[in-house]
Amino acid sequence: MSSKFYITTPIYYVNDIPHIGHAYTTIIVDVLARFHHLLGQEVFFLTGTDEHGQKIEQAATKKGKNPKEYVDEISKSFKDIWENFEISYDKFIRTTDSYHLQTAQKAFLKMYQRGDIYKGEYEGNYCISCEAFFTKSQLIEEKKCPDCKKETTLVKEESYFFKLSAYQDRLLEFYKQHNDFILPKSRYNEVIKFVEAGLEDLSITRTSFDWGIKLPSEIASKDSKKHVMYVWLDALINYLSALGYQNTLNNKMDFWPVNYHIVGKDILRFHAVYWPAFLMSLELPLPQHIAAHGWWTRDGQKMSKSVGNVVNPQEVVNAYGLDCFRYFILREVPFGQDGDFSQRALIERINSDLSNDLGNLLNRLLGMSAKYFNNHLKVDIQAFRTHYKEELESIHRTLMGLETLMQKVQINRYLEEIWKIFALANGMIAKKEPWRLAKEDKMQEVAELLVFIANLLIKSAICLSPCMPKTAEEILSVFNLSLKSKYYLEFIRDNQIVSEVVLMPISALFPKIEAPLLEEKQKEEKTQNFITKEEFSKIEIKVGTIMGVEVMPKSEKLLKLQVDLGEERERQIIAGIKPYYSAQELVGRQVCVLANLKPAKLMGELSEGMILAVKDEEGLSLIQPQMIKKNGSPIS
Ligand code: MSP
Repeated sequence: MSSKFYITTPIYYVNDIPHIGHAYTTIIVDVLARFHHLLGQEVFFLTGTDEHGQKIEQAATKKGKNPKEYVDEISKSFKDIWENFEISYDKFIRTTDSYHLQTAQKAFLKMYQRGDIYKGEYEGNYCISCEAFFTKSQLIEEKKCPDCKKETTLVKEESYFFKLSAYQDRLLEFYKQHNDFILPKSRYNEVIKFVEAGLEDLSITRTSFDWGIKLPSEIASKDSKKHVMYVWLDALINYLSALGYQNTLNNKMDFWPVNYHIVGKDILRFHAVYWPAFLMSLELPLPQHIAAHGWWTRDGQKMSKSVGNVVNPQEVVNAYGLDCFRYFILREVPFGQDGDFSQRALIERINSDLSNDLGNLLNRLLGMSAKYFNNHLKVDIQAFRTHYKEELESIHRTLMGLETLMQKVQINRYLEEIWKIFALANGMIAKKEPWRLAKEDKMQEVAELLVFIANLLIKSAICLSPCMPKTAEEILSVFNLSLKSKYYLEFIRDNQIVSEVVLMPISALFPKIEAPLLEEKQKEEKTQNFITKEEFSKIEIKVGTIMGVEVMPKSEKLLKLQVDLGEERERQIIAGIKPYYSAQELVGRQVCVLANLKPAKLMGELSEGMILAVKDEEGLSLIQPQMIKKNGSPIS
């Protein structure tokens, strides 16, 4: 393993203050950075703010500020929150920093001189919110952005292009040879499909606004139009500027290539397709891993400023504590999948995992050590190793497996494994009943059990420290230890065991939370969409078979279906499924029908029910029973 480890967050747009999504990405990077510190590596952790582009220019104008004044303010709010969150970053880059300007211009020039950049005219649609170009066929409802669904603007302007198409084969070859380049695996396949579908050259300059990095003077002087760099080209280059590539900063290119770019799934394409192509053009080695996480919703709903339901991570941390928040977001969702934030789920995690499983375990150890041994535990190491051989080996195996999980950024699995160890300890206490052993005066057995738990907590705390740094320090302080990377080598890799411990009591970790600590809970309760069983029983859903299908000529979406619901006559149902199914595919198919929906007319035709279907970004699919069932059978 190389001794250097370079990891980055995306640089955040400064059109908005930090929210849970930003905190999530940054905390994942913080965990990996701390973990690699533990392994004894030299870590460079980069974060920062992305400050150019049309979106930012517009946001500043809206606030009546000049862009620089505006970006200074918001960039500071990111810096401040990471400080409050004790994020262990090594450098905070701003794309308005002068050294970054130097790197971006030098990189542009190099790609130009290599023949990878040419001048042309761009005509197409641009989404200002995503700062991304789209072809007509990519748009939804003719005008809207396929990613954020906001309306795009038609752009027709002179532009420089990057010859992305020329890199298609080299990219595919690279992915093939590095099948862990993109994590998780499902996203790897998605990126390959995207590239295989064909890459178009990328417009990399804009002329219709000013707030961006100017082209290098060698090119600009020959150019009548005022071009600024496309904000994504400018932004991606930050990963090089921060290491002093082609600028006046101290050169740290010995950290290159980056080990992990952690990004959200929405910006994977920029990192996994465009960025490697730019780097190939710059003749630099490519990143080792691009790991894409999922998105957070709140109480099941997409977060948005207009709805006012954006989770403010600072408020959550103020109310529940930093480590509880870190634990929740890291444990709640498998890496790569979307997650939902609710106070209910957060409290559940705190009370059950943190308070019961971990806090109680430490309390029990402290309680029994004080009661039976006056806080001084001592056992014969040989006898102890023999009696607890199996358990000690099992814990060692589990802890050694954690490195692989962290390599794959499976932090939720990493935590699950640590919690298995706490479960083992709690199980041992229940099984051995040390209070009974004490009554029978088997004090050596009690001491061995407590020393076992002490060892287990020391080791677990070391491994827990990247995820919950404060908690780990607190647990270790009980054993008069503090966090040092040499302890990782001693206690984890070399499986060192202590046979004598003097415990220093601390106050209980994670007191139970009885009621939500953030005010919006009342609102949350009222808006919860629960229904009672009685309410549900009013709904009649039945199995039926589609007997006939007619196209409704005036409608792009609707089909007229005749459905047999086991009644005297077939029902006529108008369903908006024409874009997804042909008539041939439908006749004879069983479906689920909401049978007691009030009849209504749709485009002049009576509809006597509703066909149930499920829809996601890949399209719509009808719901049907797994096996053929009698028409009219009720679904409950
Ligand atoms: N500026 C670009 C990144 C350039 S990197 C060279 C950008 N900035 S962003 O501020 O819009 O988003 C930054 C990160 O926040 C992305 O990784 C994005 O996925 C993440 N999130 C934004 N909203 C989110 C959620 N609701 N949930 C989880 N993460 C989300 O994109």
